[in-house]
Formats: sequence, structure tokens, C-alpha cells
Amino acid sequence: MIKSLLAIKNFDVYFVIGIIIFFSLLETVSGFLKNSNRKKDDWIQEILSFVILGNLIKPLIVFFVFSLGNIFLPEYRFVLTDSNFTGVLLSYLLVDDLIQYWYHRTAHETEFLWKLHRPHHQAEEMGYFVSYRNAFIYYLVMPNIWWVALILFLGGAKAVALGLILKQLVIIGSHSRIKWDKPFYQYALLQPIIKVLERIIITPAFHHSHHGTSKLELSSDPNGNFGNMLSIWDQLFGTATFHSSYPSAYGLLQKTNDSWKASYFYPLIKSKDKTSELSAEFKKLNTSTLNSITVPLTKGENYLWCACGKSKTQPFCDGSHHGTKFKPLKFTVKRDGDIKLCNCKKSNRSPFCDDKHLNLLN
Ligand code: FES
Repeated sequence: MIKSLLAIKNFDVYFVIGIIIFFSLLETVSGFLKNSNRKKDDWIQEILSFVILGNLIKPLIVFFVFSLGNIFLPEYRFVLTDSNFTGVLLSYLLVDDLIQYWYHRTAHETEFLWKLHRPHHQAEEMGYFVSYRNAFIYYLVMPNIWWVALILFLGGAKAVALGLILKQLVIIGSHSRIKWDKPFYQYALLQPIIKVLERIIITPAFHHSHHGTSKLELSSDPNGNFGNMLSIWDQLFGTATFHSSYPSAYGLLQKTNDSWKASYFYPLIKSKDKTSELSAEFKKLNTSTLNSITVPLTKGENYLWCACGKSKTQPFCDGSHHGTKFKPLKFTVKRDGDIKLCNCKKSNRSPFCDDKHLNLLN
């Protein structure tokens, strides 16, 4: 069957379009378009980004890699044509997914890449088109698109075509508002299946958690679950959290009003909203201080302590840590009352103050 599939010209394009039509029909039937709060700018950015990615960025990278390959490595052109298909497919997919895991994680941990990836997390609703919502430059330097071009140059076109279908099926499926994994968590009989499946591929519950607004919610982990097709990388590198429910809110804690032009063409076009990280005026200030902050806390409540020292609502997290390696610390208090929390961010008992700031004063 795979052989006859591979014989069809451009079968990958038909399949990916088929997957998109399938999910768009399901989302439409489930009332997405009717109940959506998306603005015009959201639609423009997502559709534009999808069209430009497939019709300009990818062909451009493939052209560039073939041109370089023909000059510097002509003897390797199509060298994989007669190689074992499964071997090429697995090598392509595993390397591709590993590279994308690290690219995605780095985009959350470095300031410039975060600004290019930020539009993806600005979406306050899930939906299959959210998968394509990133800045132009984010895609242009995306290492796994270059990897795809290299495999094509080496002669792995059929493996790339089948791999792309599998990958898009998982990625679109995990961004869609159609939570296909929900029945697996609901019915005890199906739970063992999803427990195995979520350890291998990215499920909606796993990825929706990454789009959740705040870690205060049990099903949200915006600073984890970076995988794209396989969840094995998150498990391997310690960033996986598994949930059987979905966040009640999606998007960023800090809401800004950025046009689709600024979101897509940053840094060539900047946001007019001065509170946005995409504006020319925006500066992240250091708000840690050489003292503690005493706050009234409630027994049994969860709080997010700011570890990065950039929050505007110290000592609590306001989401300013995006684009740094820091993550907020979630904690629960055991008694009601005023509690001294660390604001020098150096305490050995974080989030509680251990008077370390007194040493720093000297
Ligand atoms: S603002 Fe979230 S950790 Fe500092």
C-alpha cells in the first residue's frame, strides 16, 4: 500500500491538504467558527503565514540548499535514492523532531527568538491554524526546514513526503480544538491506550498544556511540553508533564494589541503598543530588590513566585520570564498570614526569604 501511495505524484501535498480539510470540517461542525473570539488580525496572520511558508519559505530554502549542494557536494546528490526506505524515513523523522524540540525550547528561552515565536502563544483559542502562527523569520531560520531540504538533496524525497504527512497529522491534531484524546481519558477501559500513546506522540492534552496561560492551573505548563511530533524528547530532557484535562484559558498573561504586520514581520515592523515586547520602546526591567517582600497568603492556595526578577508584580510571576531560561516556582502555603518572600532571587529557600539579601548588601 505504501508503495502505491509513494507512486502518486505530490501525494504528500494532497494528504496534508486532506488533513487540514478534515480538521477544519470537524472544527466547523463543533461550532468553532460560530463561537470563536478571533479577530481579523488573527485570521490574516495565520492564513498568510501558512501560505507563505508553503509557497515561498520552503521552496526558497530547498532552492538554496540544492544550489549549495550542487556546488560543494555534487557527488552526494540523490545518494539515498536506493537506500532502505524505512531507514531513511526514521532517520529523517527522528533527527527532524529532535532538532525541532530544541529550536522550539530555545525560542522560549532566548529573547529574540521568543519575540518571533510569541505570536504562536498569543492565540487565546486553540485551532489547527495556530500551528502556523509564527513570524516570517522564525520559519526562515527554522533548522528542521533546512534539514528537510538536505534530505531532499540527498534523495530522500519519498521518505520526506510520508514523514511530513505523519508529522502534520500529529501537529495539527494536537493544536486543534478537537480533543481526540478526551474519550481515552474519560473511559477507564481506554486509559491504558492513551497512557502508552502519550508517552510516544504529542496528544492534544499534552500540547494544550503548553499553550495554557499559567502554571497555576494544574493542566497548564507554558514552560514545558516543547515536543512537536514525539513526546520522547520532553521525557528525555526533563520538560514533560502529562495531564488528562485541558487548560481553561489559553494565551499569554500579558495581553498586548499587536497588528498582524508587527507579529509576522518583527523586527522589520514593530508594534505600536508600547507595552508589547514587539515595540521599539519596550524594555524588560530588573525588578528584583535587595530585600524581602511580605505578603498576606492564604492556607492551601497556590502561588507562582517570580524567579527571573523581571515581573512587574513582584514577588509573583506576571509572565515576564518568557524569553529567558527562568520559570516561575509554584508553591502552596501551609498557614494563613503574612509571609516573607524572597525578592533578591538568591534565597536557598525560595520562594521564602532566608535573609541572603543581607549578605548581598555588604
Ligand atoms: S515573571 Fe515569571 S518567573 Fe519572573
